[in-house]
Amino acid sequence: MRVDGSSNSLLITGGAGFIGSNFVFYLLKHHPEDRIIILDALTYAGNLPNLDEARKLENVIFVQGDIGDKELVGTLLRQYKIEIIVHFAAESHVDRSIHTPDGFVETNVLGTHNLLKMARKIWLEEGLDLFPSQPYSEVPCRFHHVSTDEVYGSLGPDDQAFTEQTPYAPNSPYAASKASSDHLVRAYYKTYGLPITISNCSNNFGPYQFPEKLIPLMIINMLEGKELPVYGDGRQIRDWLYVEDHCRGIELILESGRTGETYNIGGNCEIANIDLVHELTCLLDSFCPSSPYRPHASLISYVRDRPGHDRRYAINSQKIYRELGFDLDYNFFDALANTVLWYIENESWWRDLMNEEYSNWIASHYERESFEREDPKLI
Ligand code: NAD
Ligand code: DAU
Repeated sequence: MRVDGSSNSLLITGGAGFIGSNFVFYLLKHHPEDRIIILDALTYAGNLPNLDEARKLENVIFVQGDIGDKELVGTLLRQYKIEIIVHFAAESHVDRSIHTPDGFVETNVLGTHNLLKMARKIWLEEGLDLFPSQPYSEVPCRFHHVSTDEVYGSLGPDDQAFTEQTPYAPNSPYAASKASSDHLVRAYYKTYGLPITISNCSNNFGPYQFPEKLIPLMIINMLEGKELPVYGDGRQIRDWLYVEDHCRGIELILESGRTGETYNIGGNCEIANIDLVHELTCLLDSFCPSSPYRPHASLISYVRDRPGHDRRYAINSQKIYRELGFDLDYNFFDALANTVLWYIENESWWRDLMNEEYSNWIASHYERESFEREDPKLI
């Protein structure tokens, strides 16, 4: 992980989730010399089978536990002499934060604060004992916090894309909890000198994404001949980023990002939800020519809008391009097609997730009265 090629001991929180597990595989491919400790509570979104291949390796250790567990976090930081924390663990679904915000405050705010407290204690107060051969100032510790563009709020059609200077204006309990955690991370740098970096990225897509999020939900619903629930008029815009490009951005920040800085990472790919759903229906039509549900576009169903729904996100990533030499490796349409194929080819992966908890979520969220069909012409 270091520029000089030497190895690191990393703590990856939320490593059994979507982006976290992709990041573990990214590390194993590009930095096989690193030791990777994964801390994950295995909530409904955490899926141990994502890590089956990784866990066979000696340099990968999985620990089931909560980022809010002070003793556990302290033990892991000390025992494995963790030098880099990459913090993915979070409650991540906006719709769930609208139904049940409490867990978002507990994990995203209090859990993050616990990690910060323990990193401060062990790196800044016990650092000399932990790394006896080096003065603390030369121990390249880093707390990298993975955050979201949602902290910046919503853009109008002609507004400039979010930069790192855009004022925070979170609109959902999820976004507010992530904004709070960003502020705490920054405050630990300003107040205590904890070596931190933050990245705020746009909507990720790719393999292993839990099927509550737009892209996997739509693919799986099409495979099962179920309706495709489009919120409101479907003209909300998201800036889509392939998960491996996101991982590359985080790697660059860890290797050469400036301590205390925030970097935006976007996909440079703004698409309205309804256009994305149409693209997905075309991909399904072509990959599944004998499906009884063709044309899949006939499954589209407009449903009542998400409360407080942000209209448009767009990320200006010039800073990470300019300072760290970032670039996107993946073309959006190729990556989207590969993602669709991945879900078609990995049916057992997503079927195993369709347990009682998942069915209850789908039933309570989509089948309640407030999600009755909408006529987009009337919205
Ligand atoms: P995810 O929901 O797929 O995974 C979250 C993981 O965190 C799960 O494995 C879960 O078990 C674990 N977790 C939850 N609470 C925990 C706790 N208290 N202690 C330990 N582990 C816990 O999320 P994701 O989509 O992979 O997102 C990862 C991070 O990236 C989050 O911080 C999210 O806010 C951020 N982010 C995501 C996106 C996106 O499009 N998915 C975009 C921008 C930022
Ligand atoms: O922008 C980054 C954020 O992207 C991350 O911080 C979040 O963790 C991640 O969940 C994602 O949030 P969104 O709310 O943008 O993603 P979601 O996949 O839930 O929805 C994408 C868009 O699609 C959004 O405008 C809502 C809409 N949508 C979503 C679902 C699940 C629908 O129209 N129908 C749906 O059933």
